[in-house]
Amino acid sequence: MEVSNKYVVIKHHIEEAPKESDFEVKTESLNLLVDEGSDDIIVKNLYISIDPFQINRMKSFSPSQDALSSSTAIIPGKAIDGPVIGKVVASGNSKFEKGDLVLGVFTWAEYSLVKETSILRKLDSSEFPLTYHLGVLGYGGMTAYVGFFELCKPERGEKVFVSTACGNVGILVGQYAKLFGCYVVGCTGSHNKVVFLKEKLGFDDAFNYKEEKDLSSTLKRYFPEGIDIYFDNVGGKMLEAVIANMNTFGRVAICGATAEYTDLRKTGSLDLVNVIYKRITIKGFIATDFMIHHFSNFMKKTSNYLRTGELKVIEDISLGMESVPSAFVGLFNGSNVGKKIVRLVEDEE
Ligand SMILES: NC(=O)c1ccc[n+]([C@@H]2O[C@H](COP(=O)([O-])OP(=O)(O)OC[C@H]3O[C@@H](n4cnc5c(N)ncnc54)[C@H](OP(=O)(O)O)[C@@H]3O)[C@@H](O)[C@H]2O)c1
Repeated sequence: MEVSNKYVVIKHHIEEAPKESDFEVKTESLNLLVDEGSDDIIVKNLYISIDPFQINRMKSFSPSQDALSSSTAIIPGKAIDGPVIGKVVASGNSKFEKGDLVLGVFTWAEYSLVKETSILRKLDSSEFPLTYHLGVLGYGGMTAYVGFFELCKPERGEKVFVSTACGNVGILVGQYAKLFGCYVVGCTGSHNKVVFLKEKLGFDDAFNYKEEKDLSSTLKRYFPEGIDIYFDNVGGKMLEAVIANMNTFGRVAICGATAEYTDLRKTGSLDLVNVIYKRITIKGFIATDFMIHHFSNFMKKTSNYLRTGELKVIEDISLGMESVPSAFVGLFNGSNVGKKIVRLVEDEE
């Protein structure tokens, strides 16, 4: 059976903040039949994960493009790929059958023709909503969990600062840190998000970084006794200001550098004398490196927190393939609260 299949491409490389006009929704026709034993699998996509790292793949060059198979360059005119949840509609591979729910790296399309190697795992929707596997029980959750517990090595009562605190990863870092017994302050880009962090998510405090002129004095106000742990999602000037306010033997987990992704002039400069004399550990990480040894613990702990209702899940879901460009652009102007996802179907059945 032939279907018409919408998919999303970039029209050209994107070097700065993305605009909706940089994208195009194209249509192709796709045959939904596969040969038995061919390893071809056709997935009807249900949910697309919208993530900031994709902007680095859309540039003509970024050091990230040579680092990992999941961060290679996106070619203008070709379908973009990334984390997607879908349902198998045809399979020539005996390990997958029609109706299986799968998480994988698929095209930003209504249907994707994939091989077994693109499928990360089968999903079960009986206990938690499928979308959780793109956020709290997916890569974002794993990033928050290993970044906070394995890199930052927290101790109860320590003072934790999280940037992009109202985003997918930041919301979870702040909640893990509170559940663990730390004092947590987040920064974010609007008054409403500040209120949300304090009133709905239990952060001890939060501030809007866009309203602050001198970030170092701001941090001194929120952390008069200094910062023990910084979970960095933005890089740039905020990292510079944090180093000036870190305590001796402080830990900094470099998770993301969103402020620098779209403007290389925003790179901060590190005060290395502070780093040395305060013996600060600054470490970049990629969550996939921790999958083998930490994924099952992460799933167990996080699922339990979800069952008891101690961990709140915040998702920001748009509907339809046409909304993909605006959903992605919105990550860079701060319109999302929590995990950004595009739902492609009205009904999962
Ligand atoms: N190392 C890893 O393994 C790993 C894994 C996942 C994600 N990451 C990285 O972690 C970071 C957070 O990811 P996420 O999935 O949680 O995304 P996200 O926070 O949902 O991303 C969107 C948010 O970024 C903020 N932002 C956008 N442009 C900014 C700018 N110029 N300066 C400061 N903030 C800006 C906005 O929040 P405000 O309103 O607060 O400005 C926006 O709502 C990203 O850099 C991502 O690439 C790393």
